[in-house]
Amino acid sequence: MKKLILLIITLFTLNQVSPSQDPQGPPSGGRPGAQQAQDRIIEFGTKNISLVFRVSARDGRLYQAYFGSRLENTDQLMQTRDAGHLAYATFGTDNLFEPAVRATHNDGNPSLELKFVDQFIETSDGKSNVTLSKILLRDPVYPFEVTLNFKTYYNEDVIEQWAEIRHDEKKPVTIFNYASSMVHFDAERYWLTQFHGDWAEEMKMKESELTPGIRILDSKLGTRAHMYQTPVFLLSLNEKSDENKGEVIAGTLGWSGNFRFLFEVDEKGSLRVISGINPFASEYSLEPGRVFKTPSMIYTWSAAGKGQASRNLHLWARKYGVLDGTGSRLTLLNNWESTGFNFDEKKLTGILDETKKMGLDLFLLDDGWFANKYPRSNDRAGLGDWQENRAKLPNGLGYLVKEADARGVKFGIWIEPEMVNPKSELYETHPDWILKLPNRPEHYYRNQLVLDLTNPKVQEFVYNIVDGMLTANPGIAFIKWDCNRMMTNAYSVYLKDRQSHLYIDYVNCLYGVLDKLRQKYPRLPVMLCSGGGGRVDYGALRYFTEFWASDNTDPVERIYMQWGYSYFFPAISVCNHVTSWGKQSLKFRTDVAMMGKMGYDIEVSGMTENELKFSQNAVASYKRLSDVIWHGDLFRLVSPYDENRAVLMYVNDSKSKALLFGYTLNSGYGESFNRVKLQGLDPAKTYKVQEINVSNEGRRPMISESGRTFTGDYLMKAGLNVGSAQPLTSVVYEISE
Ligand code: DGJ
Repeated sequence: MKKLILLIITLFTLNQVSPSQDPQGPPSGGRPGAQQAQDRIIEFGTKNISLVFRVSARDGRLYQAYFGSRLENTDQLMQTRDAGHLAYATFGTDNLFEPAVRATHNDGNPSLELKFVDQFIETSDGKSNVTLSKILLRDPVYPFEVTLNFKTYYNEDVIEQWAEIRHDEKKPVTIFNYASSMVHFDAERYWLTQFHGDWAEEMKMKESELTPGIRILDSKLGTRAHMYQTPVFLLSLNEKSDENKGEVIAGTLGWSGNFRFLFEVDEKGSLRVISGINPFASEYSLEPGRVFKTPSMIYTWSAAGKGQASRNLHLWARKYGVLDGTGSRLTLLNNWESTGFNFDEKKLTGILDETKKMGLDLFLLDDGWFANKYPRSNDRAGLGDWQENRAKLPNGLGYLVKEADARGVKFGIWIEPEMVNPKSELYETHPDWILKLPNRPEHYYRNQLVLDLTNPKVQEFVYNIVDGMLTANPGIAFIKWDCNRMMTNAYSVYLKDRQSHLYIDYVNCLYGVLDKLRQKYPRLPVMLCSGGGGRVDYGALRYFTEFWASDNTDPVERIYMQWGYSYFFPAISVCNHVTSWGKQSLKFRTDVAMMGKMGYDIEVSGMTENELKFSQNAVASYKRLSDVIWHGDLFRLVSPYDENRAVLMYVNDSKSKALLFGYTLNSGYGESFNRVKLQGLDPAKTYKVQEINVSNEGRRPMISESGRTFTGDYLMKAGLNVGSAQPLTSVVYEISE
């Protein structure tokens, strides 16, 4: 009876939406006029994009009618016979391809039907740059509904999309698929660029053509989004795009756990891209009245190649995606590469002196400062026991904060609060706080296990580690939050019979802790680290000001990694440190680190006089020019994947200042390079080109145009000489109006 009443209410609601529709009527679009008028168009737009949906009067379903270059008049879409592709395809009725959502109802019925109910719009930022729109879909028989959310960022040409799933059935409903977005394309061919790797090999780029069938990019690591595949992709339509040409979509999922991008080319050559949490081993039992909110899929579209797509995402990220993305960052000296676990108070105060001497803002104390019963002298013990190690730091963190302050530098600290070594007091006291399978041996990665963040007591513990430390030492000005392992053999005592919730609940609970911390400490800079770049995603970056891109700091390999990250993440968020990795000159290493958020992780006391002087100048130059790197537009000019060099530049808003970075990689004897045409400058302006970071150590480019003056027009048409016959050389040009 209840179901019958619901059915009547639903049909009534549908009628409200489109009073003239006739569910039994002929297919829409058959005859211009009466029948077509019954369909309804819903349009979302940004400056250059239109995303258009059509509600079919014939079946009440929602279809994606168009996505791409902004349409002036979307009503014309009604003239096509075909309503488009199902906007959020279900499973169980007549959809033969991969669904966006799949559920089994409380009576065992494994099918889902979703019909359009209503659309709401709320403009959220008052300046109408950001608009949040919702489309409500409901099953005509079961009290099960999905709200599709679209947040459009007008000036940035970015769409953020997520879904909210809820029901009012009598008992829990199991949901098996729960995509954040499903977007369709109808192109001749599709070129997918994926970014993959491993520890110390992050963000390798590979492009390939999509063929009929399904292609999946995903991860199943639990505590981190990636290691082998990164939750980002570029999709070029019709033909391969390059930096300045071609239709391209850049997409990324804001989720710090298992993700899945599924690309399915059907028998007609249409492509559906389904993005969201990886449903693998994660069926979710949804209680009546509870909302299952998916993470955001963030994407942009560009008709002018990958460069524009990246700039759209960067602009969006600085304003909306990364904590304090429009602000500034602290340059720092980290001690991980120089000391490892082997330090004491005396050594650290020496490093504080060096921080000051280098002109850096902050000293970041890395791993190894804590634990007493099982001292953290290596990575086999102590994780979880967050008290200062009395032998290394007899006067506690407070002393170091004070000593830093006395030198006019700030103090930052490393933590890894989600983890535990079996050799720790935490493990001894709370064995039930740890993710591990019953009846199976423990499985270690870096000798550690993951804490069960789904347990509220563990959440409180993690919150208190940070809050306790900051309360006791209010002078702490920076945190590096690490996460050195993925989940294996994972089982939560707390979740009992809901083990398939673990991957999802873990991440949401982590966000819960971070939310709470951010309420109390809204602006404290925190670096996101996950044994290198394993957790780089916009779900986490809401809470973090920057991320550690990789433990691999070999500058040549870094050029490729930083190149990869640059497609999706703005330079202000990418931490690059000058270290002793690689055999390249200090200049080359410095120039590579400078193209993002620069820091140092090197033994300063081991530098020669010359090297110290060079570094001090480089830090001063970086501070003078970092605004252009952090907030300017990026133009990738020559890809290291195409040539034996890499060249990129940043240009500030008013086009009065630019910085160009050029790296020669493995040029052969006598190899010559074409001039590089600059981008993003004002053709009418006159610019002085001045080389900075000049060093007599690293060999200079063959032909230097430093000190000369050119018009923007000339620089963008004729270009500059960037590149040398000498491998592993680099040049940085400051280009000023
Ligand atoms: C992994 C990080 O990526 C490194 O930078 C360093 O912090 C170590 N963990 C410390 O254990």
